[in-house]
Amino acid sequence: MLTRDSITIEPHGGELVDRRVPAGEREERRRQAAEYPKVVLGPRTLSDLEMISTGVFSPLTGFMVREDYESVVEEMRLKNGPIWSLPITLSVSEEEAADIREGQEVALANGAGEIVATMLVEDRYTYDKENEAQKVFRTTNDEHPGVATLYRQGDVLLGGEVTLLEDGTTSRPFPRYYYEPRELRAIFRQKGWKRIVGFQTRNPVHRAHEYIQKSALETVDGLLLNPLVGETRSEDIPADVRMRSYEVLLNRYYPKDRTVLAVFPAAMRYGGPREAVFHAICRKNYGCTHFIVGRDHAGPGKDSSGRPFYGDYDAQHIFDEIDLNELGITPLFFEHAFFCLNCGGMATTKTCPHDKDSHVFFSGTRVREMLRKGEYPPPEFSRPEVIEVLIEGMKNSS
Ligand code: ADX
Repeated sequence: MLTRDSITIEPHGGELVDRRVPAGEREERRRQAAEYPKVVLGPRTLSDLEMISTGVFSPLTGFMVREDYESVVEEMRLKNGPIWSLPITLSVSEEEAADIREGQEVALANGAGEIVATMLVEDRYTYDKENEAQKVFRTTNDEHPGVATLYRQGDVLLGGEVTLLEDGTTSRPFPRYYYEPRELRAIFRQKGWKRIVGFQTRNPVHRAHEYIQKSALETVDGLLLNPLVGETRSEDIPADVRMRSYEVLLNRYYPKDRTVLAVFPAAMRYGGPREAVFHAICRKNYGCTHFIVGRDHAGPGKDSSGRPFYGDYDAQHIFDEIDLNELGITPLFFEHAFFCLNCGGMATTKTCPHDKDSHVFFSGTRVREMLRKGEYPPPEFSRPEVIEVLIEGMKNSS
């Protein structure tokens, strides 16, 4: 029996969403769905569908209808509902939309053409991509990968509740580390953790990441290392290579009884501040009470003229605009972390008195260059075990 003390944090909006058809109705629903107009989803929308259906995106029960979409873009909250920072939409071309009526059911299919879900189309609407880009990504420059994706997508949005007909939308990535929110919540309860910090990453864990994770862990019960394994830019290190690097790192340097490694199957939007809020909400649904936001969280770097799309701490400042009690999960902010040769250890601009010359810093581009040549960045930057996995991964992929 659950005692009050062992109850984990409430999901966003109060209840974990489950949009899967009961097993007994599956066959019938599949037969019906075969007659519906079919909409084929790309990898990002497919992962959104799975996240909606399994409750990672609670309280969303489907792709956004116009009122929710507009309210999210303009006000960062669902219409008459909780805080929500990113549009979760299903876009189609005008030609595809021409055959679809409001009030109609459509079948949602994966890349192999297999029907995985149905959607009741409540709303079918056009939208202003530039306005979304400006409000959500804070730029209309299509060098921003999130903006480029938005400009490429269809001109009509379909909104409505979804029903998943399968357990997942495709075979699940990294099944050993794949947990739905209810499963992770059960694990946290079983471990007796009350305060859990979530860590989002799309990179291998370097010393700076390890430092902020462990600094946070000092003050809570457990760490959820929750790497994003959905769609990323081609220059990011592939998820399978990263997963191997997390395994070696966790085996050697992390306490097993205080760390859980689980994949976050979402696509990266590179939306900086807005995505930081979104990442926090998803981790709340997984059962985390705290969430790490460091330097340039979910940032895409710089544009072609060398200007960064976001300030280093914009993704922290956005939480000033939000009622944290209402958000429910507590963000933990970290300054830029580095190894300081004078301090003889990891530090941040908050804790180190020395100047930049004594700080070991490598840009992502420089690290990728070194890895490609088989060179090891120094141990002050990354554990050698991680570098070995990355160099091996680079060799195999080239
Ligand atoms: S992200 O796109 O997933 O945010 P990344 O994997 O680089 O990218 O970062 C994961 C988390 O660590 C983010 O919260 C980010 O702000 C933080 N972070 C990354 N590098 C540093 C650093 N050197 N100092 C402080 N925080 C950092």
